[in-house]
Amino acid sequence: MTRKILVTSALPYANGSIHLGHLVEYIQTDIWVRFQKMQGHDCYYVCADDTHGTPIMLRAQAEGITPEALVERVWHEHKADFDGFHVDFDNYYSTNSPETRHYANDIYLKLKAAGLIEVRPVEQFYDPVKEMFLPDRFIKGECPKCHAKDQYGDSCEACGATYAPTELIDPFSAVTGATPVRKQSDHYFFRLSDQHCRDFLKQWTTPPHVQAEAANKLGEWLESGLSDWDISRDAPYFGFEIPDAPGKYFYVWLDAPIGYMGSFRNLCDKLSAISGQTSEVIFGEFWDKNSTAELYHFIGKDILYFHALFWPAELEHAGYRTPTGVFAHGFLTVNGQKMSKSRGTFITAASYRKHLNPEQLRYYFAAKLNSSIEDIDLSLEDFTARVNSDLIGKYVNIASRAAGFITKRFGGKLGTIAGNTLLRKLQDAAPGLAAQFEAREYAKALRDIMGLADLANQCVDETKPWELAKQEGMEAKLHEACTVSLNLFRLLTLYLKPVLPKLAADVEAFLNIAPLQWRDAQSLLPGGHAINPYQHLMTRIDPKQVEAMIEENKATLAPLPSPASGGGAGGEGNHPARHTEKQAHAASPSPQPSPTGGSPHPNPLPKGEGANVGAVAPLVSIDDFMKIDLRIARIVNAEHVEGADKLLKLTLDIGSETRTVFAGIKSAYEPSTLVGRLTVMVANLAPRKMKFGLSEGMVLAAGGDGGLYILSPDEGARPGMRVK
Ligand code: MSP
Ligand code: ZN
Repeated sequence: MTRKILVTSALPYANGSIHLGHLVEYIQTDIWVRFQKMQGHDCYYVCADDTHGTPIMLRAQAEGITPEALVERVWHEHKADFDGFHVDFDNYYSTNSPETRHYANDIYLKLKAAGLIEVRPVEQFYDPVKEMFLPDRFIKGECPKCHAKDQYGDSCEACGATYAPTELIDPFSAVTGATPVRKQSDHYFFRLSDQHCRDFLKQWTTPPHVQAEAANKLGEWLESGLSDWDISRDAPYFGFEIPDAPGKYFYVWLDAPIGYMGSFRNLCDKLSAISGQTSEVIFGEFWDKNSTAELYHFIGKDILYFHALFWPAELEHAGYRTPTGVFAHGFLTVNGQKMSKSRGTFITAASYRKHLNPEQLRYYFAAKLNSSIEDIDLSLEDFTARVNSDLIGKYVNIASRAAGFITKRFGGKLGTIAGNTLLRKLQDAAPGLAAQFEAREYAKALRDIMGLADLANQCVDETKPWELAKQEGMEAKLHEACTVSLNLFRLLTLYLKPVLPKLAADVEAFLNIAPLQWRDAQSLLPGGHAINPYQHLMTRIDPKQVEAMIEENKATLAPLPSPASGGGAGGEGNHPARHTEKQAHAASPSPQPSPTGGSPHPNPLPKGEGANVGAVAPLVSIDDFMKIDLRIARIVNAEHVEGADKLLKLTLDIGSETRTVFAGIKSAYEPSTLVGRLTVMVANLAPRKMKFGLSEGMVLAAGGDGGLYILSPDEGARPGMRVK
């Protein structure tokens, strides 16, 4: 029976780059969707950029562009990364779309008609300079528990405490630095505490809608009681204005999941042109209350609350169908630790693509993924070893060994096979492997597939085609052995195709066959079938590629001139309203734009317009210049100096030694954003005794005409290198 299946991945925020953590999810989902399509099902995969909210609004302001322009630019960056990793959406859209607005209004008005929307005054921190209410992440101050300075309004990074921003000591606005004032305004609430919602969620939050582990977590949350959910924000806000409430906007998390509907509706317009059915009818087949189609959301564990509580409750009470399943996955760690900018393990998709083959990461993630919520680790050493041994050593090898003989000795044509138990065994593996893909047990599937590849290699080692090739009268045996090998290779390719789609397409071209479907496991290549000459399929990973990638991700660390995008993933954070919050995992920070990493510098000057800082100094000889020993330095630590209003204390690694330098750059840089960066220092400047300690050199910075910009070397430079 052909199933109708709609699949989504979470919508990435439009103010950060895609990184390897995100890719766990998009790769996990893409594998599942490709598998369903190979089964012949009507499966659609939609996604979009999550575009609304305060962080995106402020980020655009900092860059001197409209939020729409920012969203447009990031959409193309995200799309290029997804294409690069072969994540094949049927539609990649934006939440800032007419379709999403339509369904957001529609759901809101239906919830309102059901008596589930309530207006209540809320008192919040307000930035009197910027004239806006401040999300928790944009308020900073001293932790009320451990007294660490410079902590966010919702939680302390030093001691892990969570609290309300009003509890912070000496709070200040991260946008302007102003002291926030308390101000009251009306907010719109979705009445989740309503008995209907609670009863519904109690029965809904159970397997198979959610995984057993998730059901436990959700049960705890429900036990402790759901508060009403604040779904409005006051202007200024980048989002959809609430239809009957001028000046009030839907909170980004209200319209984000509705973006799944918006993206799908946009796809329906395209499908309608092919099928002759109206867009509305196709949409209804998937979203109407009585729909028989399946709907699955793949998400990270940090956003379970939104997808397994708020979202089904909204759908249910607005008269739509609810999800068939919400599949949460764990978080990515690299070398056993949280991704870290200073260690260079906060790896962007774009930088991975520069150094390594995306399908190798798909393979590694698949080899680690299962249906649980456990975190998964990318051990870079294990990644290299595993890809080289499995993909090159066990899999690709089979084809390269057999194809040459077929081409050179048999005119490129396959022979016949008398009957082969190993081939039969591989064919018979199809249903079991399908069940594993269906259950998202990719690690098990790949282990079994590699087990079959081992058997295939053993078979080649026993038949020894290279010896048959040297013996008289063994032509027929050689022909059959190579034909068996290529058939084994074809079956392994079929099973690996959801994971390695591009490689599979290359193999299909080489074997001269139509795109492999799951049912093709039941057949073999016929005798006389002509193949094309073997072309190189995949290159081993050289550990140097991995090293270069890590170095690059250290090197592109850059300061954020504006606090606007300093608020972690999406800035407002993936926390439900504080009153309802019981978060399992904090969101990881979004990578930040970097001048050296190709992102435009905020407030760029118009082209051709230089700074106005006076004439060039008198000439010096090359000898004079060479007296100055300039070195590449890594900033290994940066901190504020008690009592100094201009200086930061930097610890610089110049390869052979470390230096302490007091630099007058406090006005331009937040110390934490400097740590890990490479810059240029004068290494032979006479040390200078200052009020705060000894300064052993100087870092170079451009300035003089507003702003201050420290230098960054180009990619590849290392601490200690001389600059001349
Ligand atoms: N915009 C929201 C989702 C809205 S869905 C209606 C959001 N965006 S995000 O960019 O922060 O994350 C997108 C997805 O990537 C989320 O499912 C998140 O859990 C996942 N991941 C982000 N960092 C991750 C890791 N380090 N590891 C694994 N998944 C991660 O949340
Ligand atoms: Zn604290």
